[in-house]
Amino acid sequence: MSDIKLQLRHCIELLKKIPSGSVNQIFADPPYNLSGATFQTVQSGKMVTCDKGDWDIIEDIHEFNETWVKECIRVLADDGTIWISGTLHNHPSIGVILKKLNLWIVNDVIWFKRNAAPLLSKNRLALSTELIWIASKSKKYYFDYDTAKMINGGKQMRNLWEINAERHKTSHPTEKPETLIERIILLGSKQGDTILDPFTGSGTTGVVAKRLKRNFIGFEISPVYFEIAQNRINGISINGKVVYSEKLLQQDEQLRMFLEEKAIYHSVNT
Ligand SMILES: C[S@@+](CC[C@H](N)C(=O)[O-])C[C@H]1O[C@@H](n2cnc3c(N)ncnc32)[C@H](O)[C@@H]1O
Repeated sequence: MSDIKLQLRHCIELLKKIPSGSVNQIFADPPYNLSGATFQTVQSGKMVTCDKGDWDIIEDIHEFNETWVKECIRVLADDGTIWISGTLHNHPSIGVILKKLNLWIVNDVIWFKRNAAPLLSKNRLALSTELIWIASKSKKYYFDYDTAKMINGGKQMRNLWEINAERHKTSHPTEKPETLIERIILLGSKQGDTILDPFTGSGTTGVVAKRLKRNFIGFEISPVYFEIAQNRINGISINGKVVYSEKLLQQDEQLRMFLEEKAIYHSVNT
């Protein structure tokens, strides 16, 4: 049984209550600060000002990033990894902070969405990627290379991940695809580990962590999204197996068998 802790408040306040070194993996999908008058996006084929919500407008984004990243690093286990998603609006800030905090940058993963929304203006390229920083406290960190290879059909996995944007399951404007989070959790943690998501949103990380039998700590500042996340995470029924999304299961029976065998091996040998 997974232990799920979901809390409604500012993540920096809540992070301060977590004991140092107690979290195995962190996935953070923070405000990218792309809402507001300066950025535009496409909605129903029309150009509109980008508005993800008030939570996405932060006056000093770099200072905010530095504060939460520092707290995350304090709570991260010595062999844990932090995975932070972003676009060009926030990844330079995150990259500078990771270097400043002397962290080991494990990888920058490029997530390519082949089906990303088209661009209506003709003055630049259509955005279809996000970047995910992976960092650790030292060069000794947990990483499941074998599972990565298995997911990639037996070939070494590269840092370019082609995963389509999926139809949202909730009304949250920036819900991440479960397929992406599944991959992140499978590569960065073991069953029984604790995953933290300081910006839980609609609860995608919690849903996937629970399915994959990890413990989960999630923080969310908006009561509306908090409720959505709570309902979504509690609604998941576990059928007693190592479970992934139906889609992934159908796509990759071989992966399921491999991970089940691995889980049995782990439980017999620990
Ligand atoms: C990019 S979204 C995360 C989406 C999430 N990955 C999902 O799949 O639904 C960021 C979320 O962080 C929340 N948030 C913003 N500032 C926060 C803060 N200081 N503490 C906790 N949550 C915050 C927002 O309300 C928003 O739901």
